[in-house]
Amino acid sequence: MRKEQGMLHVHNLHLKYGPIVQLSPNELSITDLPIVRKIYLNDNYPKEFSHLTSNSKKIVKIEKGFYSQFGNFCNKNLFSTGDTREHINKKKPLQKIYSKTFVLHHSKFLTEKINNLVDNLVSSKNQNVDVYSLFGALAMDVVTGFEFGFNNSSNFLNESDFQNPNVTYKNDVFESFRDSSSLWFWVCMTPQLYSFVSKWSGKDKTMVIGRKWIWGKIMQVVTNYTAEDLKKQDCTISVLYDRYDRDLAKIGSELADHTLAGADTTQTTLTYLMWQLARPANKEWKEKLLDEVQSVFAIDPIDNHVIIDDYNKLDLQMPIMNAIIKENFRLHAAIPGSERRFVPNGEGLKVGGYKIKPGIVVSTQPYSLHRQNVFGNDLDEFKPERWLPFAKETATEYQDRIKEFERHMMTFGQGNRMCLGMHLAVTEIKACVASVFGNKQLKNYEICTEWCNQIDTESKTTKMGYGNKLIDKFKDRQNYLALSDTEKMRMADSYTIRPLFDECWMTI
Ligand code: HEM
Repeated sequence: MRKEQGMLHVHNLHLKYGPIVQLSPNELSITDLPIVRKIYLNDNYPKEFSHLTSNSKKIVKIEKGFYSQFGNFCNKNLFSTGDTREHINKKKPLQKIYSKTFVLHHSKFLTEKINNLVDNLVSSKNQNVDVYSLFGALAMDVVTGFEFGFNNSSNFLNESDFQNPNVTYKNDVFESFRDSSSLWFWVCMTPQLYSFVSKWSGKDKTMVIGRKWIWGKIMQVVTNYTAEDLKKQDCTISVLYDRYDRDLAKIGSELADHTLAGADTTQTTLTYLMWQLARPANKEWKEKLLDEVQSVFAIDPIDNHVIIDDYNKLDLQMPIMNAIIKENFRLHAAIPGSERRFVPNGEGLKVGGYKIKPGIVVSTQPYSLHRQNVFGNDLDEFKPERWLPFAKETATEYQDRIKEFERHMMTFGQGNRMCLGMHLAVTEIKACVASVFGNKQLKNYEICTEWCNQIDTESKTTKMGYGNKLIDKFKDRQNYLALSDTEKMRMADSYTIRPLFDECWMTI
């Protein structure tokens, strides 16, 4: 993973050796569905392992593993908590804020932010826009509302200039969060080296900027509200305030984690979706989507916004849009890397004819699970049609096939450790897709030729990885510009993905 080629490497090992691959003396990668479901869903394997003495069953040492490094402000959070019981206690109170009912209750807030993004695009007509930064701003402005209160969300959509060629690197907060992620994944298997490497790489200085920004927002909220008023707010900070004994470092650890987890994943997902729709080979889907949105929703005669009068229509009346979104989740899962768990104390795990003993790390990478033959052919290609009924397929056959697809999907994880913000992310993505790609004023968007003069006209293929080596080779701007869009949109190969060069330019 340190060379940013880990995911592809593991995937190739699966193609060569099958659904169970031993990666090291103490780690297995698994794509066999019944075992995957046992690990994540049925038995909820933990993220840390307690060594027990055989006779007294007293814990002697806790092995913390991959997730332990994801704390903030010297405190653990939901994501980095290894112990199953402690995790469940932390998750329960937060689930209310991220339930589908709660998200839909705040759909007006979502609509406002999304329309803000649409206005930004409309005012950029015939201009070039870095949509990677733009979607990042939307994701941040939305998630901070759920974290800090709907009147305290960030305002990056109005504060940044997305036509600026340096926009990607200009915003210190985004750069800081990006540095945090890249460092976490660089030391992922040796989290004990985190502090040393952050100093050695100089990232300790940039990373502080993002943490300070989060801290500033916390201070803003706790000074602007009395404790009583804060408790009446419907957001993460108000839920945690008394529960965490008003310990701001503990609360901050959770808030920073959700902000990071919620922003770049949603940003990456929307960016790849737009790129796919803008590719010449997918013109048919771009047109079908526009027609579908226009047939389901009315258009505001004053500002030409798509009026999402009922968010349920996004789920129930839009098969084309949902097929496009599902295919994008499959192909460009924002977290496609190995989700490591420990075989717990007890009987061990039976795999084939072998017994895997407690303490061994077992993992599945969504990248590989999403490329199983159950999904059909051309597994690296964007083909929304696989999610729609085939000709001559009966309704029951179609439902059974999709059920089987869903069992292999892991975009948001599976089981108890599944994504806390899934309903927020999915609702936001659907509403954003309908609002942007269903808006007739924006229908001429295409890949910016000043950014990329080699657009693949036929291909639907996507590519993964080859991080640092490739980046070094294309530091020369002319070499970089000559790359095809497929090359530029290679997915960075770490636990998460993003476009390898952190940008994606469209002409609107
Ligand atoms: C497209 C957007 C998103 C994707 C693809 C995504 C994906 C995931 C995945 C795969 C996991 C499990 C990781 C693992 O076990 O290794 C996860 C966990 C998590 N996600 Fe998301 N996520 C998204 C958006 C969000 C948002 C908007 C939030 C905001 C709160 C969020 C907060 C979290 C948290 C707190 C966890 C840890 C849950 C736990 O340990 O119980 N995510 N996410």
